[in-house]
Amino acid sequence: MAGIVQGKIALVTGAGSGIGRATALEFARQGAQVVAADIVTESAAETAQLIQAEGGEAASVFVDVTDEAAVAAMVDFTVAEYGRLDCAHNNAGILGALSDIANYPRNEYDRVIAVNVTGTWLCLQAEVRQMLTQDQTEGGHTIVNTASVAGLVSNSAIPAYTVSKHAVVGLTTSAAQSYGDQGIRVNAVCPALIETAMSQPFRAEGEEPSTTRVRQTIDRNGQPEDVAALVVWLSSSAASFITGTPVRVDGGALA
Ligand SMILES: NC(=O)c1ccc[n+]([C@@H]2O[C@H](COP(=O)([O-])OP(=O)(O)OC[C@H]3O[C@@H](n4cnc5c(N)ncnc54)[C@H](O)[C@@H]3O)[C@@H](O)[C@H]2O)c1
Repeated sequence: MAGIVQGKIALVTGAGSGIGRATALEFARQGAQVVAADIVTESAAETAQLIQAEGGEAASVFVDVTDEAAVAAMVDFTVAEYGRLDCAHNNAGILGALSDIANYPRNEYDRVIAVNVTGTWLCLQAEVRQMLTQDQTEGGHTIVNTASVAGLVSNSAIPAYTVSKHAVVGLTTSAAQSYGDQGIRVNAVCPALIETAMSQPFRAEGEEPSTTRVRQTIDRNGQPEDVAALVVWLSSSAASFITGTPVRVDGGALA
């Protein structure tokens, strides 16, 4: 049976781990050919190998999303490998320090903004430039940015991250408005706590994971696959009237 993104060419950043890896795998399971990009070359390659082991089609490439030349090279690689770019998932991100604003180290603030904001901006810009040169494929072109529930409400434990994810939501709505009539849909996913390497600092040693999800209404921890399913669905023609929307995948945390 054909998948919901059958024949699409999908690019995922931060694909070496966590949510990005799960999304790359789901894109492939739903029929896309996938480019897995990450700053850790080996882990991106591992993701591509996992896809190939399941019979899917994938390649991997290095990217540091803060480096404009590397981002351009990533998009060029995708086009050289598969001929075009249909679906992008801008997902690479970092948490930064856990500190209040008064004590937040300046270099750490700069790092969070560079990866989460400038990195997402540079990727989206390079992707849009490429997509605008292409013919409309069925269902058009799609970009999904990984924001966070911290892009919708504040989390005082991680103020720079909160700033950065609010900016990702702003970038998403701005780009959606600019390119909606040119066949590019741009949405964001807003996960709450998802079990990945990034969320480890929120689990104090010996603490039950359940104590980190007290505000959820669904009684289990969020998994990378929960986010992946949403990203791929937003990238499919089933979501063809959805753009400029930050979609929560939070187990009801903000309900
Ligand atoms: N885990 C959560 O609870 C959670 C919640 C909400 C949002 N998010 C967001 O989801 C995204 C993925 O996070 P995750 O939880 O899977 O974390 P993760 O640490 O498992 O994965 C992040 C990936 O991004 C890569 N990366 C980091 N800096 C990069 C750079 N400069 N260039 C290219 N790649 C880079 C890392 O190598 C890693 O593979 C992030 O944007 C994060 O902010 C995570």
